[in-house]
Amino acid sequence: SRAGDYAGRRVLITAGGTREPLDPVRFLGNRSSGKQGYALAARAAARGASVRLISANADLSAAPGVDVIRVGSALEMQEAIRGHTDWADVIVMAAAVADYRPAVYAESKMKKTHAPGTENDAPTITLVRNPDILAGLVADRGAATSPVIVGFAAETGEPGRSVHELGREKLARKGCDLLVVNEVGVDVTFGRDENTVHILRQDGGPPIDAGPARKEIIADAVLDAARDLLV
Ligand code: C5P
Repeated sequence: SRAGDYAGRRVLITAGGTREPLDPVRFLGNRSSGKQGYALAARAAARGASVRLISANADLSAAPGVDVIRVGSALEMQEAIRGHTDWADVIVMAAAVADYRPAVYAESKMKKTHAPGTENDAPTITLVRNPDILAGLVADRGAATSPVIVGFAAETGEPGRSVHELGREKLARKGCDLLVVNEVGVDVTFGRDENTVHILRQDGGPPIDAGPARKEIIADAVLDAARDLLV
């Protein structure tokens, strides 16, 4: 039974999408609404867990009892997570974290040039890699079995390559215990109340398919799979 099965457990969840600032008014962002992460927080709390939610730019309210820590960028998210990794029994990285950020942050708003002959000029934005927070958590855990680490993978698929196949590769690369693969696109998943996922397991067990279903139902399936790995 799920009632109280997370009592005494500590769950850290990331949600939303990071924004990588270009200048005081502009950023590079993504379409993540945060709904799946907030649903995970709500269900973990309902099942008895202490929950800390690191929320990036989500316009949502968290369930009662959930401690919310707000962040903007990937670097801020990494810094916020650092303080809670020793605390957590389970870490669920549901947030969409930008892989790259602008190399330079302009302290004041970038302006168009108006000089004669520059009508078609446009700036080039150089990006640099962000740290892979999830891979870092796995590396820091080393040979330990705690915390249980869950990654998400938003995949659109590629010609000739299924979302499943891409997910398997990512699971191997990231080394997390579970990878929740969801199919995304402009009109699929993002901002919606429903989701369809495949939960892939590092231990070689069969994948668990969940949905299409409300994000709370998907959250319960993810929490079930993580609970089975708790020692
Ligand atoms: O490689 P990809 O971005 O698809 O991986 C997605 C998973 O990795 C998510 O769990 C996301 O939170 C995490 N991630 C991360 N740091 C990054 C990029 C993604 O922790 N820089």
